[in-house]
Amino acid sequence: MAKGTGQGSGRSTESGLKVRVKTSKGRKIGSTLWLQRQLNDPYVAKARAEGYRSRAAFKLIELNDRYKLLRKGQRIVDLGAAPGGWCQVAAPIVGSTVENPLIVGIDYLEMDPIDGVILLQKDFNDEDAPAALIAALGGHKADLVLSDMAAPTTGHRATDHIRIMALVELAADFAIQVLAPGGVFVTKVFQGGTEHELLGLLKRHFSTTMHAKPPASRAGSAETYLVAKGFKG
Ligand SMILES: C[S@@+](CC[C@H](N)C(=O)[O-])C[C@H]1O[C@@H](n2cnc3c(N)ncnc32)[C@H](O)[C@@H]1O
Repeated sequence: MAKGTGQGSGRSTESGLKVRVKTSKGRKIGSTLWLQRQLNDPYVAKARAEGYRSRAAFKLIELNDRYKLLRKGQRIVDLGAAPGGWCQVAAPIVGSTVENPLIVGIDYLEMDPIDGVILLQKDFNDEDAPAALIAALGGHKADLVLSDMAAPTTGHRATDHIRIMALVELAADFAIQVLAPGGVFVTKVFQGGTEHELLGLLKRHFSTTMHAKPPASRAGSAETYLVAKGFKG
């Protein structure tokens, strides 16, 4: 996610040179490495050049190229939408407008408005979040539920893992509740987890389920995506 680029050594990545960031007083080594990675990441530069709020936008673009997810007139729910890259990609393709918004995004972080997208600032774990999303859809069923949510980590592996999977399962339950027959569910998952149960659930409710690692997803990251198509209703 684009958090701003901060300071590098003064060289631009567009020159093709690798930017090195000196550790300065008060900046932790982790932050220095994050900054260095951002400055050298072609997707970060591309997002800035093309006006996307996050490099994550390219993950949806690539997933869409491969799995043909987005179509005109679809209603979409975007879980964990901030800062809005996926909404920015989807809105013009589905034809979502201020007069007829077809996309609802939710995040507990505040987001700048996006034309044609209804944004709810809310924790998806809140009991009333599903009802708020359904109300924002005007009571219509959704054609596509996207989830790029990741629960914040605590550093305690087992706890983090349980939290991450609980959030994905909540998103899957919501998708099953809200999708129209034939609908599609795309969710971020993390490799090395208790994905068995989730896969079993999705296989029961969707005609095809596929694992996907779009090129924009960093090779070193455990993140991957599940694409479930053909909701059985
Ligand atoms: C990787 S970012 C999403 C990037 C987004 N797809 C884009 O293209 O800009 C993950 C988001 O999930 C949100 N998130 C994590 N847990 C959440 C929860 N329980 N409820 C709502 N949002 C959540 C985070 O606040 C974060 O903004």
